[in-house]
Amino acid sequence: MRIGIVGGTGGMGEGFALRWCFKHDVIIGSRELQRAKEAAEKYTKVARDVYGNSMIGSITGEDNFALAVDSDLLILSIPYEHIENTCGGLTNKIRSDCIVVSPIVPMTRTDLGFIYTPLEQGKKPAAYLVAENLPPRSRVVSAFHTISEVKLRNIKQHLDADTFVCSDDQNAVAVLNNLISEINGLRSIYLGSLSMTYQAEILTPMLLNAAKRNKMKNLGIRLV
Ligand SMILES: NC(=O)c1ccc[n+]([C@@H]2O[C@H](COP(=O)([O-])OP(=O)(O)OC[C@H]3O[C@@H](n4cnc5c(N)ncnc54)[C@H](OP(=O)(O)O)[C@@H]3O)[C@@H](O)[C@H]2O)c1
Repeated sequence: MRIGIVGGTGGMGEGFALRWCFKHDVIIGSRELQRAKEAAEKYTKVARDVYGNSMIGSITGEDNFALAVDSDLLILSIPYEHIENTCGGLTNKIRSDCIVVSPIVPMTRTDLGFIYTPLEQGKKPAAYLVAENLPPRSRVVSAFHTISEVKLRNIKQHLDADTFVCSDDQNAVAVLNNLISEINGLRSIYLGSLSMTYQAEILTPMLLNAAKRNKMKNLGIRLV
């Protein structure tokens, strides 16, 4: 599978690339082609050190919009504030059968702690905004909100965590579930249609507040 990561130069992008390059061709995206290429080179070295010759996939770099042309699945690994601009550039490039994954969490820090901005400021959940800007809605899946980039990037680490998945399309969920199952120790929990995404997105500021107040690090969620 060809997996494009828009904003792949960030911490989450690095984690996705390192986990999936074992079997898949991953394309790191950036607003700057050179930055994408440098990141891809760096991640490839890390992956080769760990996987050796058993790695059958690859990591390459492209600019955010060029990578959409060839991707079977796109991860939008960018901050919430830049969804509209970025989707605008992807619209004419993305294939009609491409699955779009949103790990995006709309949140901000206040004196009280981290807050989920759609609840507090009347904004839209991230995956709604993605679906509005990259229709059809059925291609959008939301997932990975409660996965810490620190743990994701450490490819030797068993995550021992769940991730909630929301989508209106069961075929898109099935494709993403396969990729989730390839991440060591990560389990997919289907939460419902895309209209449920706020229930997954809101967990991230909650985890960050719990971590800060209790001096814990890189928390995740596991249903027992
Ligand atoms: N970090 C976590 O542990 C974590 C956990 C769960 C979910 N998430 C969510 O996952 C997403 C990615 O997280 P992250 O920590 O990797 O994010 P990040 O490092 O803040 O940003 C990722 C990339 O977004 C690109 N970017 C920055 N400003 C942009 C703009 N104006 N327009 C378009 N692209 C821009 C940058 O790439 P270039 O400069 O190369 O273009 C950057 O490397 C976020 O939405 C976050 O809420 C993060």
